[in-house]
Amino acid sequence: MVQAQKALLQWYTIYGRHQLPWRNTTDIYHIYLSEIMLQQTQVTRVKEEYYPRFLQKFPTIKALSLASEEEVLALWSGLGYYSRARNLYKTAKLSSHQFPTDYKELLQLPGIGQYTASAICSFGYNQNIAVVDTNIARVIKRFFALTEPKNSIIWDKATELLNSKNPRSHNLALMDLGSIICLPKNPQCTICPLLNNCQGSKNPESYTQTKKKEYEKMELFYAVLIRNNHIALTSSTGTMYKNMLQLPTVDPIEELFITKFKHSYTKYRLTVNLYKVEEVIDDIIWIDLDKLNQSPISSLTKKALALTII
Ligand code: ADE
Repeated sequence: MVQAQKALLQWYTIYGRHQLPWRNTTDIYHIYLSEIMLQQTQVTRVKEEYYPRFLQKFPTIKALSLASEEEVLALWSGLGYYSRARNLYKTAKLSSHQFPTDYKELLQLPGIGQYTASAICSFGYNQNIAVVDTNIARVIKRFFALTEPKNSIIWDKATELLNSKNPRSHNLALMDLGSIICLPKNPQCTICPLLNNCQGSKNPESYTQTKKKEYEKMELFYAVLIRNNHIALTSSTGTMYKNMLQLPTVDPIEELFITKFKHSYTKYRLTVNLYKVEEVIDDIIWIDLDKLNQSPISSLTKKALALTII
């Protein structure tokens, strides 16, 4: 085990993604924010767009706690999974004076589960705690040759492999190994630092059961109503886009049909139909078309607006 730990750290020193901004800060709020953003979102998008923009507007957890939810959602526009932003905001309000350092306390906060709590403890405080995300889980399953293990077994094995001398770098190294070498398809075993100790290296693909994703089709009908350079939007009440602004829904009327488009969001494959109407029954918020980029609107709504506003 010690040999594997050493080889892993040596590899990380040379090949690790050391330039990522959240790895070069000790500010726990910045580290926490990055972990929330990085769930379900690609590193490049977070690094280049959303993380710097968010921190420019809210450089401290105090500043975030004093914002309105609408401002926070506006900065999250286009990232999806908006409950992440709502929970981030709730957590900022609850812990703006003192951000917890204890794993169990962290777990009590909105939007912080086992992964995020352990990532904060390890990456933020260098505590001796295992971290398991999708990449690390794959490495662990192969390294210990685990076929269809329960989650708790993967966490136990990650704890067994943990390097208590440098838990932070160890966990970051496993994460990078999973995203650079121990790939789901065509893992690069010949150049892997763990090759000598890996129990799954003979047949690495047999430890990555790929569950087929299940998609749900849905058809949506939205009203487009513009007056005096303002567009009629309404506050979404559904769980998916809660408190985001969206086009009002409408019963489809063929004569008013403008266009339709396809959109993917989480597990949904949506067909979105747009209708030009003269009035709507929903509660309306009129948004200045020149201020749309300061409003909490989703990619779906942005797409719809781009298709209807010239
Ligand atoms: N570094 C620290 N946490 C990370 C994450 N979740 N994804 C990629 N790099 C990271």
